[in-house]
Amino acid sequence: MTLSRRDLLTASALLLAGPGFALRAAGREAATAGSNPIILCWNENPYGPSPAARAAASEAIADSCRYPDDELEPLVQALAVREGVSTDCIVTGTGSGELLRALGMLSARDGGEIVAAQPTYTELTRYAEGCGAKIHFVAVDGHLRHDLAAMHAAISPRTRAVYLCNPNNPTGTTLAAADIRAFVTSLPPSVTTIVDEAYMDFAVGADVGSVADLTHGERRVVVLRTFSKIHGMAGIRCGYAIARADVAKELAAARMTTPNIFAVRAARASLGDQAFLADCRRRILASRVRITTELARLKLPYAEPQGNFVFFDTGMPLRRFTELMRTRNILVGRRFAPYDNWCRITIGTEPEVDAFLSALPEVTGRA
Ligand SMILES: Cc1ncc(COP(=O)(O)O)c(C=O)c1O
Repeated sequence: MTLSRRDLLTASALLLAGPGFALRAAGREAATAGSNPIILCWNENPYGPSPAARAAASEAIADSCRYPDDELEPLVQALAVREGVSTDCIVTGTGSGELLRALGMLSARDGGEIVAAQPTYTELTRYAEGCGAKIHFVAVDGHLRHDLAAMHAAISPRTRAVYLCNPNNPTGTTLAAADIRAFVTSLPPSVTTIVDEAYMDFAVGADVGSVADLTHGERRVVVLRTFSKIHGMAGIRCGYAIARADVAKELAAARMTTPNIFAVRAARASLGDQAFLADCRRRILASRVRITTELARLKLPYAEPQGNFVFFDTGMPLRRFTELMRTRNILVGRRFAPYDNWCRITIGTEPEVDAFLSALPEVTGRA
């Protein structure tokens, strides 16, 4: 086989960009394979951005010859008001992914170790590993929830951070806020708890909720939020962390970029577009119920979903399920070891969910 110059350039670009990028690129290739595929593989919110955010981003083009530094401060102020903290407790990033990486890098210093669930979102752990950290993955429990007792047992004198993704990607399951509070209190003061609340806006249930207030306490706690999910702005890249001022300062020093003018303006506008946010939530939650109702009817086990996605047992190797869905022009999530038969399906628009639900009985042979 002879590789063209273009193949070589693409391969080296993918290697430089890292595995996350390679996976996304593979998905995008698949996405262009059929015409207008239904993309249910990246946990995006297809309703976004909000009308206000769209208008703000479009208008920002006229000012994009300017650095956005002066505009960042009003966004930070708006976030601080929203979170009930002072501005020095907010750190913005080019997506919360950038902040997860920065936290991974900080935790890796001097032989640091990190405790995380298996499976979970791997942006932090993968980057930290590349920086030399050792990761202790702790299997989720029988309900596919974080096993806090086992995670606690995995902590060693070298542990710098514990990563809690709540709701967890890819399982969609949640931890009760009270359990996180008790867990954080039981940790050595040197350990930072990183609570990733990317999907918290889609969670329901009295015991589930943000633990952002823990960032005011004595323990080192960082809570992460993103504009990529409920705000539907994944392509615009904006996220932020809430942390005690000293922890926030360390994190801000470790990040590499700050949001651009489109992100700054769209994020501010989206924060004010409550009608849009409520509508997204209502629609995604309604579709989530439709999906779980059908999974139950087909007797396909699923993890209790609290995000904008559902993780379920397809009853066959995921590779086969993926191929069968692809022949129907539907792209579904990748494999998450060790759940070889399980699929993570993102909740798309209502017509996209219709298409998925009408393909499901046929694909699984359980009509
Ligand atoms: C749990 C979790 N945290 C963070 C992110 C990254 O979000 P962002 O787009 O803000 O980088 C994702 C993206 O899918 C995610 O699933």
